[in-house]
Amino acid sequence: MSVARINGFADMFEPESSVFTMMEEHCRAIFPTYGFHEVRIPILEYTDLFCRSIGQETDVVQKEMYTFPDGKGRLTSLRPEATAGIMRAYIAASLNSKEQVSRLYTFGPMFRHERPQKGRMRQFHQIDCELLGSASPLADADVISLLEQFITSLGIGRLTLRLNSLGCSECRPKYREALIAYLEKHESELCEDCQRRLHTNPLRVLDCKKDSQQDFMKDAPRILDYNCPECREHYETATGLLKDSGIAFVQDDHLVRGLDYYCRTTFELQSDDIGAQTAVAGGGRYDGLIKSLGGPDVPGVGFACGMERLALLMKSPDPKKPDFYTVSLDPSCYGLAYRVSRGLRLAGLTGELGYVSSSMKAAMRQAGKSGARYAIIIGSDELARNVCAVKNMDNGNQEEVAVENLASYISTKD
Ligand code: HAM
Repeated sequence: MSVARINGFADMFEPESSVFTMMEEHCRAIFPTYGFHEVRIPILEYTDLFCRSIGQETDVVQKEMYTFPDGKGRLTSLRPEATAGIMRAYIAASLNSKEQVSRLYTFGPMFRHERPQKGRMRQFHQIDCELLGSASPLADADVISLLEQFITSLGIGRLTLRLNSLGCSECRPKYREALIAYLEKHESELCEDCQRRLHTNPLRVLDCKKDSQQDFMKDAPRILDYNCPECREHYETATGLLKDSGIAFVQDDHLVRGLDYYCRTTFELQSDDIGAQTAVAGGGRYDGLIKSLGGPDVPGVGFACGMERLALLMKSPDPKKPDFYTVSLDPSCYGLAYRVSRGLRLAGLTGELGYVSSSMKAAMRQAGKSGARYAIIIGSDELARNVCAVKNMDNGNQEEVAVENLASYISTKD
């Protein structure tokens, strides 16, 4: 019986895996410069955590989670995103009593049972960043600056940053009412999903692929017009900071995001170059979330990037050539070949130990395939004199080098 891969789950080999490694390296280099620390959290959580944070009425919770009971019948889910888990971990570790502001980042696989297509997987990877403990618009602008710097470092251009303010628990209900009243007049023209959402999650009508394009949506009430003075000031300050720093963005009245925990500033980074799935990153402020999960009343703001989508926009890094490939011409030479290879790696060089000793020709073919700069050839003659024949694979020149001089010979002959 063959074992099949699950649809929407990918195996990843070089060079794609090295693109992911490169993203992680950039992340580890840049995020700490903004004061962020890496956190690692579980992939499986109690389902309740996601229902309470992401929201019962969202597509993610209603249709997309991989949920199954644990041994005791309690429902668990593979995480569809990282924010909820980080909030749970923050509350459990009482981080708010240890530091005023916590800046945390993580990366890893997330799971959503969506219809797979280009840029949309059932197991996908996110880089996630959360700033907890500040309600200041400076914090919003700071995480957006981090996102912008990170993306730029990956060499990705041609992205549009879209921003909106979703208001707060004071002003959003008024907007919600106005929007419902407006949409009710067009109820029969709405798609089936939006007719259902109209009274449960009316803001999602604004970013519905079908209905957002309808003519009557042009005159729908704008959420910014309903922002209370505090929300308006917050948004103006955050966007003003971006403008002053030359971070370009577009005000998007229809940007509402698909997760329920957001308030005030929300944003997405979108690309036109990756097919139908345009969002490569998304995030925003979520001031009531930690409290709603039973934690302290601590505000937060953050974002997540989709690594598969970023990878579609990136070039694979050039593979690095190994320094050496060691050939032992007969089993009596295994010991020296093994010691030499180990010694070179301890000296910081990279290379492969060849396992083929059937013939010089076969061994050298393997050396060539490995792409190594040097083949280190050991036969019984070299073994007897504690030397190696070192062949430069670029120009074919061969020299005899004493074993103790190998590391410096290979390191200096670049
Ligand atoms: P999200 O918008 O649901 O936000 O996901 C963030 C990013 O994950 C998306 O922009 C997209 O690039 C990627 N993504 C989502 N679903 C898929 C999929 N099925 N296949 C491939 N990539 C996907 C969140 O997850 C929030 N937790 C972000 C956040 C952090 N907000 C505040 N802090």
